[in-house]
Amino acid sequence: MAKAKTAYVCTECGAEHSKWQGQCTECGAWNTLSEIVVEPARAAGATARRGGYAGAADAPKVTRLAAVAALAEQRHATGIGELDRVLGGGLVAGSVVLIGGDPGIGKSTLLLQMLGTLGASLRGLYVTGEESLAQVASRGQRLGLGLDGLDALAETSIERILAEAGANRPDVLIVDSIQTIWTELLTAAPGSVSQVRESAARLVRFAKESGTSVFLVGHVTKEGGIAGPRVLEHMVDAVLYFEGEAGSRFRILRAFKNRFGAVNELGVFAMSEKGLREVPNPSAIFLSAHAQPTPGSAVMVTREGTRPLLVEVQALVDASALPNPRRVALGLEQNRLAMLLAVLHRHGGAAVYDQDVFVNVVGGIRVQETAADLPVLLAVLSSFRDRALPDKLVAFGEVGLSGEIRPVPNGEERLREAATHGFTRAIVPKANAPKKSRIGELDVVGVDRLDEALAAARDA
Ligand code: TYD
Ligand code: MG
Repeated sequence: MAKAKTAYVCTECGAEHSKWQGQCTECGAWNTLSEIVVEPARAAGATARRGGYAGAADAPKVTRLAAVAALAEQRHATGIGELDRVLGGGLVAGSVVLIGGDPGIGKSTLLLQMLGTLGASLRGLYVTGEESLAQVASRGQRLGLGLDGLDALAETSIERILAEAGANRPDVLIVDSIQTIWTELLTAAPGSVSQVRESAARLVRFAKESGTSVFLVGHVTKEGGIAGPRVLEHMVDAVLYFEGEAGSRFRILRAFKNRFGAVNELGVFAMSEKGLREVPNPSAIFLSAHAQPTPGSAVMVTREGTRPLLVEVQALVDASALPNPRRVALGLEQNRLAMLLAVLHRHGGAAVYDQDVFVNVVGGIRVQETAADLPVLLAVLSSFRDRALPDKLVAFGEVGLSGEIRPVPNGEERLREAATHGFTRAIVPKANAPKKSRIGELDVVGVDRLDEALAAARDA
């Protein structure tokens, strides 16, 4: 075999360099270059052909997409509804999915349970580089999975894994975790950027050639990224993050990138003694159970992925001893909070420039949509005035710089969700309010401007 050629890749921006150097000339970062293998030209060509352009052995030809559509992605249900939802409707043959998350969050458990529920329809192979086969088997037993249909392999060498998988031909291959896998082509230690990248690249190629669905488990670094170069996220078809708050048994699976479905789709699970249980109707679990209305608490209807969620947002506003009062936003964007406070001053008549403002979204949820603006301001004002919002009130709506309340998508669906959960009053953008101002028991108040919204909350 020809000696493999190597190059150096920047772990910050993914730029390739032929020689090692201290600073990446592309992005200017220091000490980020790491060795990778560049395949011999011949081998790479052979791979591309084996990749299969619809039977043609030579150069690829222009193809009418209508003819390709017949071969369109085949989906298989995994048997775990919440996982299917995040994947965009089930497993796609030949896809590569990276699942990241903190240690102990439940990645191995989820994937082992998935192999168990795939059942007779698809064959799975679980490759473990972290645990012994005995550990995997005893976990499988504890989870109550039928171990008869489950194949496992304890191995960390990518060459041997691919040889086994090539002979075994599983429909689903799980590699737990990619950070333990190494190739003999490289001298770098397992877990190093070059090893992770090269091993992942080989697995991606294997998935595309064989039609096997591959799941890679990845650890999360302190900064929150998946350890290894950014390029790992570019190489795979989908990146899912498994998150959960310390001390909470709820786990959230979130699609961060998905070539086959919507991003920001959420799957919700609860960890039990018998492994992960699905929470198919999670809408109300992000509400904290107050016996009475509490100042500083507001409920919003946010929409994550394709379903509405009722989420509580809490604010604490307190006189600051600092020359620069603090603005802390957990689960929301910090800059957006600063902007909203300015709008509240100018158009809502509440001056909080000498107050510390803390805002938290309950349950460890991250809300990225602007529909949270209005409920955030209601919570802030409620804490500032130390007056609780009315019981059973929900709100959503974007707040503009001139104090206008703008509509958000899927208003009616959000309102119906709130009605289902027993809310009796909603303050929403006028354009989102239905013609009849009632949905079931829910009274809907449509507002155009921030001062109207604040008045509606006060008078309710
Ligand atoms: P694990 O899947 O090993 O996490 P990861 O692979 O992401 O590191 O999950 C381990 C945690 O889950 C551990 O703290 C114990 C807990 N757990 C349960 O509570 N119930 C169970 O049935 C199982 C298998 C694990
Ligand atoms: Mg694990």
